[in-house]
Amino acid sequence: DWKMDAFVENTIKAVREKVGKGKVLCALSGGVDSSVAAVMLAKAVGDQLTCVFVDHGLLRKNEGDEVEEVFGPNGPYNLNFIRVNAQERFYAKLKGVEEPERKRKIIGEEFIRVFEEEAKKIGAVDFLVQGTIYPDVVESGLGGESAVIKSHHNVGGLPDYVDFKEIIEPLRDLFKDEVRKAGLELGIPEKLVYRQPFPGPGLGIRIIGEVTAEKVKMVQEADAIYREEIANAGLDRSIGQYFAALTNMRSVGVMGDERTYDYAIALRAVNTIDFMTAEAAEIPWEVLGRVSSRIVNEVKHVNRVLYDCTGKPPATIEFE
Ligand code: XMP
Repeated sequence: DWKMDAFVENTIKAVREKVGKGKVLCALSGGVDSSVAAVMLAKAVGDQLTCVFVDHGLLRKNEGDEVEEVFGPNGPYNLNFIRVNAQERFYAKLKGVEEPERKRKIIGEEFIRVFEEEAKKIGAVDFLVQGTIYPDVVESGLGGESAVIKSHHNVGGLPDYVDFKEIIEPLRDLFKDEVRKAGLELGIPEKLVYRQPFPGPGLGIRIIGEVTAEKVKMVQEADAIYREEIANAGLDRSIGQYFAALTNMRSVGVMGDERTYDYAIALRAVNTIDFMTAEAAEIPWEVLGRVSSRIVNEVKHVNRVLYDCTGKPPATIEFE
């Protein structure tokens, strides 16, 4: 794509000029946007860039290690990479908390705190990189919706608590599909470039009610099975967004001769153009059947699988 080729090249050049000999800090989430922004910066300023990856323990199964594989010391990009394993801290803060907005606030604030501590260790930086893309700019109220339906983690965030001079947002004018093209242009693995959108608060908002380490494990396993089967069925690129959530409901089931009283997993799959509205995706029954039987067989303490067929509105895509 010659246009994207030019965009990437020009942006790298512009960033390099702007940064000069400055020190740059980037919060890497492993998502498409921050990954593309980080690689772009790495190409522009090399080891003047440091990326901090906070693993809040609310990532998808194996995701933390996958991020480290790509961006860590053994990966293809020569960046200063710091992984902070902060799982325990987040779980401790979330203990006993059930209210969705409070959970979002806690996760957002703890994220900032962890990031800030790392930034302090690094010392004064000149620039902070953010993977803000065009729809974020619109959604965070600068040109769009006025009502805040959910407080957004990682949009318009960070600024005050890190000492820096300026923000760099290399993707600010791009839509998601353009970010993906830019990512491919930069040689980022397809697997990462086509990763689904994943909310900043992560699995924290896909576990309805209190978050515990045990519940994180359950939803991670169920979600991994769901994604694997969707990919096996060749549907992974045609559905807008799909994931498993852990409901806060337990119900009665039977396993062998035993009565069980365990949790229900909800499967979500939506098609959408802009994520402001969405409709439930029609997944073939046999695929759902396979996912369901694997989940109840392989994930401990789950005895029921439900399919969410609600559109947005009135439901949102995420559960909290
Ligand atoms: P909702 O649940 O509001 O989600 O219908 C719309 C889209 O936004 C994603 N989402 C988030 N993304 N930080 C993000 O970066 C967040 O706090 C957040 N909350 C929701 C969600 O996954 C969906 O794609």
